[in-house]
Amino acid sequence: MKSLTANEIRESFLKYFEEKGHTRVKSASIIPETDPTLLFVNAGMVPFKNVFLGLEKRPYKRATSCQKVFRVSGKHNDLDNVGYTPRHHTFFEMLGNFSFGDYFKREAIEFAWEYLTKVLEIPEERLLVSVFEEDDEAYEIWNKVIGLPEEKIHRLGVEDNFWSMGETGPCGPCSEIYYDRGEKFGNPQLGAPDDNRYLEVWNLVFMQYNRDEKGKLTPLPHPNIDTGMGLERIASVLQRVSSNYETDLFMPIIRFAEDISGKEYNPEDPQSIETVSMRVIADHLRAITFLISDGVFPANEGRGYVLRRILRRALRYGKEIGIEKPFLFEGVDVVIDIFKEPYPELIGNRGFIKGLVKAEEEKFIKTLKRGMDILYEIIEKAKKEGRHHITGKEVFMLYDTYGFPVDLIEDIAKDNNFGVDIADYYELLEEQRKRARASWKSQAKEVKEIYIKLKNFLPENQFVGYEKLEVEDAKILAVIKDEKIVGELREGETGEVILDITPFYPEKGGQVGDTGVIEGDGFLFEVTDTKTPVEGIIIHKGKVLFGVLKEGETVLGKVDKERRLDTMRHHTATHLLHAALRSILGEHVKQAGSLVHPDYLRFDFTHFEALTDEDIKRIEELVNQEIMANHPVVCREMNIDEALKSGAIAIFEEKYGETVRVISAGISTELCGGTHVSRTGDIGYFKIISESAVGSGTRRIEAVAGRKAVKKGLKEHFLIKEIMHTLTSKEDQIIDKIESLKLKVKELERELESIKKKSVVERITEILSVEDREDYKVAYGKIENLSPNELRDLADVARAKLGKSVVLLASVDKEKGKINLIVAVSKELTDKIKAGEVIRQVAPVIGGKGGGRPDMAQGGGTDIQKLEDAFRKFLELV
Ligand code: ALA
Repeated sequence: MKSLTANEIRESFLKYFEEKGHTRVKSASIIPETDPTLLFVNAGMVPFKNVFLGLEKRPYKRATSCQKVFRVSGKHNDLDNVGYTPRHHTFFEMLGNFSFGDYFKREAIEFAWEYLTKVLEIPEERLLVSVFEEDDEAYEIWNKVIGLPEEKIHRLGVEDNFWSMGETGPCGPCSEIYYDRGEKFGNPQLGAPDDNRYLEVWNLVFMQYNRDEKGKLTPLPHPNIDTGMGLERIASVLQRVSSNYETDLFMPIIRFAEDISGKEYNPEDPQSIETVSMRVIADHLRAITFLISDGVFPANEGRGYVLRRILRRALRYGKEIGIEKPFLFEGVDVVIDIFKEPYPELIGNRGFIKGLVKAEEEKFIKTLKRGMDILYEIIEKAKKEGRHHITGKEVFMLYDTYGFPVDLIEDIAKDNNFGVDIADYYELLEEQRKRARASWKSQAKEVKEIYIKLKNFLPENQFVGYEKLEVEDAKILAVIKDEKIVGELREGETGEVILDITPFYPEKGGQVGDTGVIEGDGFLFEVTDTKTPVEGIIIHKGKVLFGVLKEGETVLGKVDKERRLDTMRHHTATHLLHAALRSILGEHVKQAGSLVHPDYLRFDFTHFEALTDEDIKRIEELVNQEIMANHPVVCREMNIDEALKSGAIAIFEEKYGETVRVISAGISTELCGGTHVSRTGDIGYFKIISESAVGSGTRRIEAVAGRKAVKKGLKEHFLIKEIMHTLTSKEDQIIDKIESLKLKVKELERELESIKKKSVVERITEILSVEDREDYKVAYGKIENLSPNELRDLADVARAKLGKSVVLLASVDKEKGKINLIVAVSKELTDKIKAGEVIRQVAPVIGGKGGGRPDMAQGGGTDIQKLEDAFRKFLELV
C-alpha cells in the first residue's frame, strides 16, 4: 500500500479520472448557488444536480471533483458524532467521479476497484463491499467481474444502501466499499453505528431516480453515476493511523490545540475529554475557516447562525481543556497552512477570516459572562418566588439572546438543586428554526426551466459590450413571453429577446443591466433591463414601441450610452473605494455586497465599527487623488489561480470561471466581469453620501461619481445658499443661528405650557358640568392633552373650588387615541363613595382599566367615542 500525503491523494484521484476521460471541475462554494432546498452543499454531486435532472447540459459527460462539503443540517447531519467517533466531520472534502448518462454500474465499480487496488495499492484482502439488497446486478459485477468472494459482498437495506441528496432530488441504490482495519477492532456487524473496524471509504451511487415532494420516485432521463470518497478517511488508511484526526489534514491543528492548552492529545484514549475536545476544535476550525472564506458571516439565522453555533461550540470545548481566552483566530493560520495549495483563495481571505473570528470570540466570551450574571439573577428571583425550576422561556432567552449554552444552564441549575423545563425550551427552539428555514429558503432562486432549455439548444450568446455600445447585425435567436417561446411580439407587448451577439451588459456582479433600443425592419423595441438567467444566455427585457418584432430578424442593438457611462464611472469608483477602504481601515475590509447603478453606488463591507468623519474624509480624498492621477484602467485575462496568487481581490459570493478578468486601476487590482472607464480621470469626481450599519460587522457606504457627484455638489451648494437666505445668516454662522433658534423655541414652549395650565385652572368651572346631590356636588369634564400629573393637579383645584364633591376629569389625546381619567372624592365623602371603585367601573366603558385610593384614583382607555357613555355611567354611580 502506498503512503501518501493528503495533497498527493487529492491530486492522484483527480488525475486518475482525468486519464479516464473525466473533466476536472473545481470545487463549488459551500453555499449552494442555485438550490433553494439546501442550506449547504452536502455532497460532491450537489453542483451537478441540474445535470442529473436533465435540466442543464454541460460540455462533458464525465466529471471528477474534490468538493468542499458541510454536514450539519437537513438529511445529512453528523454534528453530534463529531469528536466522539474517529471518522465524522462537519466540514470535509469529498472526492468523486460522475457520469451523466454515460457509463453506469460496471465501469463505476471497475474504476473504483482499479484506483484503490492498483493506484493506491491497497491490498485486495483488506476490502469488502455492500450492495442494495435488491440490486442483483451490482452483486454480480462485484462477484463475477471483479472476482470478489461472496462472503465479502453484503446485501444491506434502504437505510444503508439507498442514497438521496435530501428529502427531494436525485437518488438511487448504492454500493459501498469498506476498508477492514483488522481484528483488533473486534468483530462487529458491517455498517453498525459503533463499528470502528470496517471503515466505509467510498460510496458508489447509481443515480436513477428523482424524488418529489410527495416522496414519489420518477426515473431520471438517463442513469447516472455519483460517487463520493471522504478524503480524510482514505488519508487515514494510507497514512496508517487510527483516526482521521491523526492524518496530515488535522494533526497540525491538534498540535496547535495542545500548545495553547498545555494538555495532551491521546488517540489511545479517544473518549478522554482532552482528546474529544481537541478533535472538536480541529474539526470546527476547518469548518469556520472555509465557511467564512466562502462568504458565510456570523448571524442569528440561516447559514450565519450555523457558523455562530459551530464557533461557540469550539470555544466551549476549548474551555473544557482550560483555554479561557480567544484562540480560534490564531488556529485559522494553521488551517490555511494546510490548505493553501489546493485552495489559494484562503491566503487572500486570511486577514478577514482572522479578524471576524476574533471579534466573534471576544463577543461570545463577553456574552457568556453577561449570561452567567443573568442566570444567577433568574435563580435568585425564582428562589424568592418559591420556584425551583428554570422555565423554557428563560432558557430560550439565555440561549437565543446571549448565546448561552443550554448544557451549561442545566449544569448550573443542577448545582442549585433546580430543574429545567427543557421540553418547553425545545418547542420554542423549533418555532425559531421554522422561522429561520423560511428566511433562507426565499434567498436562493432556482433557474427557470425555460432558460435551461434555451441554453441547451441555443449557441452561447456573445457579449461584446466591453468594446462596443452598438451592434449592427445581430440576429434575434428567440422571443419569450411569460416564460414561453412565442416567435414574435406585437406593438405594445412586453417580453424578452435573445440575440446571438449583444452589446447590452446583463445585470451581474452588482452592476445593473443595460437599457437602450433594438431596432429592426419596421419595429422598435425598448430595452428596459438586461439579465443573464443562466450562464451563456442574455435576455433583453422590454416593450415593442411600434411594429412587430420577429424571431430570425437582423437588428441593430443600441445601448443607452449616457446611462452606461454613468454606470461605468460608478463601477470603477467602486473599485477605488474598495482599495481605499482597505488602505485606510485595514486589510480585513472585504466586499460584502455591491450595487453599481447609473445614479449611485452602494458598497457593503466588513468592518467592526462606524467610520469616523476623519475616516470618511481620508477615504474620499484618497479616491479623488486616484481619480486626478488619471491612471489607465487595464484589463487582463488570466487563469483564476494565477490571478488569486497575484493578490487580486476576489469577492466571496461571486462565481468565477477558469479564466477571469483582472481589472487594475491605480491602487486597485480586482477580479471583475463588469464594465469600466478607460482612465480613472473619466470618473471626474467622487463623493460619499452616507455611511451606516447593515447587520453585525458589516457597514454600508453610498456614494456618487461623475455627473451625479457634480449634481449633488451643486444641489448642496444651493441648499446652503437657501438656508443662509432663510436664516439671514452667513455660511459659517448657520449652525449658531439654528442652535439659538432651537433654544428660543424651547423657551417659548415652556412659556406656552404654563399659560395653558393657568388658563385651564382659570376656566375649570367652565370645563366642568356640575350636578347637585343632597349635601355634595358631582362634576365631570373633558380637557385635551394633559399628562396624568397635570390632570391630578387640576382635579385638586376642582375639588377645592367645589367643596364637598366627587369629580371625574378626562384628558383626551386624539393623536395617540388615548384617554386619561381621574376621579377625586372629598375626604368627608370617602365612607360613602370610593374613587377607586368608581373608576374601576367607569374605565371599562372606554375600553380600559383603572384603580386607586378612596380619595383619588386614576385610569385610562382608548375608546374616545364612548366618553359620553362613561360620563353617564359616572353619574349613575355617584
Ligand atoms: N453522493 C454520495 C454521498 O455523498 C456519493 O455519499
